[in-house]
Amino acid sequence: QRILLINGPNLNLLGTREPQIYGSTTLNDVINQAKVQADQLSIQIEDFQSNHEGAIVDRIQAARGEIDGIIINPGAFTHTSVAIRDALLGVGISFIEIHVSNVHAREPWRKHSYLSDKAQAVICGLGVFGYTAAIEFAAKHMKVNTG
Ligand code: DQA
Repeated sequence: QRILLINGPNLNLLGTREPQIYGSTTLNDVINQAKVQADQLSIQIEDFQSNHEGAIVDRIQAARGEIDGIIINPGAFTHTSVAIRDALLGVGISFIEIHVSNVHAREPWRKHSYLSDKAQAVICGLGVFGYTAAIEFAAKHMKVNTG
């Protein structure tokens, strides 16, 4: 089973960016831990981070036929991007949306996501443990994509 882990804009700053909201674990730590977890679960994880909407769209399109499930933290594109929504729907790969912070406890405009109604699951507010939870769920419940 092949899982693609996508992190959107500013998540490269995880660990140093607003640590009172996002904690002190870096994206590198998250990715390393995800790879260890993937080995234990006998699944494969590919990771991709970009600050650019089009690059994320391109990566999602390239996943067609190669990836069984996507775990995505779209960062601020959560609240703005019809293009990322359309890309996920276009490739027909099921996805889990994840946010480190509880987006419902912050500015009101963070409550709206362009992805949530199409996601298999949405995780928010668990801190970086959300990635661990998403990977464990994906390994157990995301179907191998044969399409
Ligand atoms: C985030 C929440 C978004 O609202 C924000 O723009 C981010 C990170 C999170 O992980 O909590 O960049 O997706």
